[in-house]
Amino acid sequence: MSKTETTTLLERIAWDALDVRVAREQRNREIHSPAISLFRWWARRPHALIGEILEAAAEDGMRVSDPFSGGGTVAIEAAERGMDIYAQDLHPWATLGLATTLDGVDPVALAEAGERWLEALQEDQRALYGAEDGESEVITSFWVRVCTCSKCEQKAYLYPYPLISLASRSKHETHGFFGCNTCGSVTCSGLDVKNRRCSGCGRSLRHRDRPNFKNGIQTCANRRCGHQFAAFSPGHDWQMALVQRLRGTKATIERPKEADLDAAQVDLPEVPEPLRRDIPAGLETRRLRRAGMGRWQDLYPPRQLASMLRASSAIDELGVDRAIAARLRLIICGAAEMAGYASRWDRYYPKAFEATANHRFNLTGFAAETNLLANRGRGTLARRLTHSVKAARWAQGFESKQPQSYSSGQYSRLNRSALQRPSVVHGSSTRQLLPDESVDLVLTDPPYFDDVQYAELGALFLVWAQSSQLISRSVHVDLRSEVVPNASRGADTDRYRSLLSMVMKETKRTLKPDGRMVLTFHNTDGRAWWALARALGRAGFYVSALAVAHAENETDHAKRGRRAFSRDLIIECRSKATATAELVVASEGAGSESRELLAAGRAVAELSAALASGRLKRTWTYKRFGRIYRDRLGSAQSTYIRLGADTKVS
Ligand SMILES: C[S@@+](CC[C@H](N)C(=O)[O-])C[C@H]1O[C@@H](n2cnc3c(N)ncnc32)[C@H](O)[C@@H]1O
Repeated sequence: MSKTETTTLLERIAWDALDVRVAREQRNREIHSPAISLFRWWARRPHALIGEILEAAAEDGMRVSDPFSGGGTVAIEAAERGMDIYAQDLHPWATLGLATTLDGVDPVALAEAGERWLEALQEDQRALYGAEDGESEVITSFWVRVCTCSKCEQKAYLYPYPLISLASRSKHETHGFFGCNTCGSVTCSGLDVKNRRCSGCGRSLRHRDRPNFKNGIQTCANRRCGHQFAAFSPGHDWQMALVQRLRGTKATIERPKEADLDAAQVDLPEVPEPLRRDIPAGLETRRLRRAGMGRWQDLYPPRQLASMLRASSAIDELGVDRAIAARLRLIICGAAEMAGYASRWDRYYPKAFEATANHRFNLTGFAAETNLLANRGRGTLARRLTHSVKAARWAQGFESKQPQSYSSGQYSRLNRSALQRPSVVHGSSTRQLLPDESVDLVLTDPPYFDDVQYAELGALFLVWAQSSQLISRSVHVDLRSEVVPNASRGADTDRYRSLLSMVMKETKRTLKPDGRMVLTFHNTDGRAWWALARALGRAGFYVSALAVAHAENETDHAKRGRRAFSRDLIIECRSKATATAELVVASEGAGSESRELLAAGRAVAELSAALASGRLKRTWTYKRFGRIYRDRLGSAQSTYIRLGADTKVS
């Protein structure tokens, strides 16, 4: 359908074809959108979806805004199309990453400087991870967490399962390594051996997949004691259990030699102040604290930390310009996610997973320290440099100018007419630097309720960015403004609703009278939808159209064993004067997921309109939302969205 034939933007999109593209691209995101490898952010929207919505709205001189810019999908897709973009996020790591993505750096100069940098680090690599013969290097060191029974002082080695790793990545591998949680020894044995015994203490080892401890509770291995105690508590130690060694092109996993144990003991250079800071007591971070990781630097084995600090000081010695140095520093900050005491090892598909995999901080009894200086392997500096150059090459084709970075603290001092070029702003979007009625399209996705604790996870990268002088040490994240429920700071559903309302109101101020706002959203908690309806209604937005679209890689959820949405509801809003009289459903999708998303969307549309027009009091209750949702769902069961009565929300 042509633009002139439709009143809603969502009707201009061929949703079936788009769904196929999104599903394909989500499986290989880095290939289709190289920018996503530049900096870690969570819940990035599919580039194909965002690009298509922008295309549907495209007009000459169009200004697009994203007040929850996060990983920067909207800004990147808009910049690619030469659109004027305003992107704002509460978290400085997110805005730093986005501004760097769009910095227009010369990929050839970056590649050349990067190669010199890695070359300068070769000697350090040999000294830290090389073998004396100079012919092999350790690319992964594995650490088992050791704790002590609080009653009898017997040690316990926290291998999560007896099988800690297959012996290789070969599809036909028949052997594996087995850890003994009584004496700590590692035994190599056939996978199907029955009655396996530890080669160290002779005790029998359990079945390879039977957990050694449950819910973080360890039973003392001293049979006369049998005391049960918290496995992840302070007062622990780490012991090297295995190494992965590279000889030529062949990687093998083996037991560490004396020289490997010695090489891991290094004297740390001075650790920058941000890394010495206490880890704050948040919802996610408290797991780390409880496990005795009190400071950020505690997440790193000393040798890995030393290698990162050395890589950072080597940049100073390169004599490259500021933009290139910033790119290289961003690589180190990105590598920080491979924190060697918080990276999990996948034993059946042997590889290390980053410390914030699955949107949580990892606690593990068997951790993998990646040699970040190695030429090979997941998460290394070399691999990250390749991605960074690729992303720079990709962004060279963008039509947009390089963005200007601001902090929202400049609110009162800023000359608004200076915002004539793409802008990336750090600070709460309850205050935006945009002039009134200056935006044609707001395309955004607010935090999906409490799905991700962005600020807590981002804190790890922030301390690294501050340690590498990419972000001033005085910058802090205003957690009270984060639009995310978080019990550890008393931010409940009402707080989420009220902050979201404030951002929506401010966003409405920036929107031209005939402008549009397109949101993507999904959540399994009815209160999230209720809060969204309230926020839209209070800001005076009317929902004109809905569509269901493919959004996530379903296999990710399956891996996490969760029942979660793999689709988004796309919600197009306008002001009263330009909203359509009837709600348009541009794409219904299929199956129960889509049915529930649409029912929730219809309830949001109805209630926000009633609120915006003053037909409903501001205090309408959550119960009312539930009634309408159930009604719109008809006879179908709600299997994704849970309503549950919540008396606390008003
Ligand atoms: C769902 S994510 C956005 C993801 C993004 N669209 C992408 O594709 O990467 C929501 C974002 O809202 C941000 N946020 C939370 N509270 C905020 C506030 N008060 N002002 C601005 N951004 C906020 C979070 O930091 C997070 O990056």
